[in-house]
Amino acid sequence: MSSRNGSDFIVVANRLPVDLERLPDGTTRWKHSPGGLVSALEPFLRNHKGAWVGWPGVADAEVDDFEEDGLALRPVTLTGTEVRDYYEGFSNGTLWPLYHDVVAPPVFDRAWWDAYVKVNHRFADACAKAAAPGATVWIQDYQLQLVPAMLRDQRPDLRIGFFLHIPFPPTELFMQLPWRAEIVRGLLGADLVGFHRPGGAQNFLWLARRLLGLEPTRGAVGVRTRPGVIQVGDRAVRVGAFPISIDSAGLDAVARKKETVNRAQQIRADLGNPKKVMLGVDRLDYTKGIDLRLNALRELLTEGRVDPTEVVMIQLATPSRERVEHYQRMRDEIELTVSRINGEFGRVGHPVVHYLHQSVDRAELAAFFSAADVMLVTPLRDGMNLVCKEYVACRHDLGGALVLSEFAGAAAELTSSFLVNPHDLDGVKNAMHAALTIDPAEGRRRMRALRRQVLTHDVDRWARSFLDALDPDSNH
Ligand code: ADP
Ligand code: F6P
Repeated sequence: MSSRNGSDFIVVANRLPVDLERLPDGTTRWKHSPGGLVSALEPFLRNHKGAWVGWPGVADAEVDDFEEDGLALRPVTLTGTEVRDYYEGFSNGTLWPLYHDVVAPPVFDRAWWDAYVKVNHRFADACAKAAAPGATVWIQDYQLQLVPAMLRDQRPDLRIGFFLHIPFPPTELFMQLPWRAEIVRGLLGADLVGFHRPGGAQNFLWLARRLLGLEPTRGAVGVRTRPGVIQVGDRAVRVGAFPISIDSAGLDAVARKKETVNRAQQIRADLGNPKKVMLGVDRLDYTKGIDLRLNALRELLTEGRVDPTEVVMIQLATPSRERVEHYQRMRDEIELTVSRINGEFGRVGHPVVHYLHQSVDRAELAAFFSAADVMLVTPLRDGMNLVCKEYVACRHDLGGALVLSEFAGAAAELTSSFLVNPHDLDGVKNAMHAALTIDPAEGRRRMRALRRQVLTHDVDRWARSFLDALDPDSNH
């Protein structure tokens, strides 16, 4: 609820759920923001009539507060230099690779850190202004790890939660960060710090002891149970694991619609009705293992284990962080591999890989999921990965098979998928082959088990479990 005194429930994230787009004719429009955080939180927050503090996605956008479909949006402006140093720099050139097992080398740049501190202050100020007395504020993700402590300094009356949407790294990697103690101190401003997996929570508890000399509890953290506790002055900070999920029922309903079923058939017809369709859906990010699944396909084709006249692959890749060097390099490599595969194995009018560097809307995405016999989710590291859960939610027909990396948070829950080590190319190839040739009864058995998990553990349950732990007396 919002009132003149501010909102009682606020989500703070780097991005608003909508991005401002500047069109070539000088006009602007709002479009849906990319990424899993928005996919997960937006449906929940719309139902709870909260406020959302975030950046409109372009530099120097001075946008007044506005309401959109019951949601109060509170834009935070970033200058061009801040976008470069705070967002592309410290968030995505330092923290992103460091927290994803250094699959690319993180850059440690003091000017980037200064910008991160400055922008985190701005978000904390915006929250302090937007929050009603005693409000609950839920801070999201790695871009805003200093906000909990900054906000507490200004507004000790607030109940503050923090959730990290990406992996929290092994302690020996985190220790590389020159500003490691500052980050841990920043997070400890929250009343509850949440991670996807117990391992992340456990790493954080260890760091609080090692870096700040605090005395966290020593018991094992459970999934949604047994949070660790760290006494910080007179406050008890809890640290727990809350695996995120999706609006499973909502997506299931979209997939069941006649239009979606028809559109899925149309997609297969447009592809020439191949025997098997494989699908990848990702932000174009070097952590997602898009290159390795393409290399696996190329070897399977070369070895004759996959017939290019029978199998087609679609890769949907949302443009992402396009000015960051590693992203540019990855895009070039992926596009080169796609054209090599099509050059070697395609026929006129029948490429083997259909690559779209585009975002599609939810209904269209549901149709792609419904059309795909094999879903390829092969990140080298991923906090959770929502795409695999979305695929499962769309398969009310019990069709399809999921190939899933062991290094995605979702692997701990989706154990009836074909689990692969993405570093083991032969293992990935074998799993792709097994998924393509699965016996239909076995496929249905696996999909039934996957759906049981995804439909019972939805985003509402995730949010409620976090907010109940943050504030047991409130009714979420
Ligand atoms: P991340 O948060 O790292 O991007 P997730 O898998 O958790 O990864 O979430 C990605 C979200 O973005 C999902 O909701 C997925 O459906 C959506 N998405 C990814 N690629 C596309 C695309 N090409 N078109 C539309 N949505 C996409
Ligand atoms: O959790 C992953 C995440 O970084 C979110 O914070 C973000 O909304 C999403 O991926 C998309 O990334 P970006 O906001 O950098 O486009």
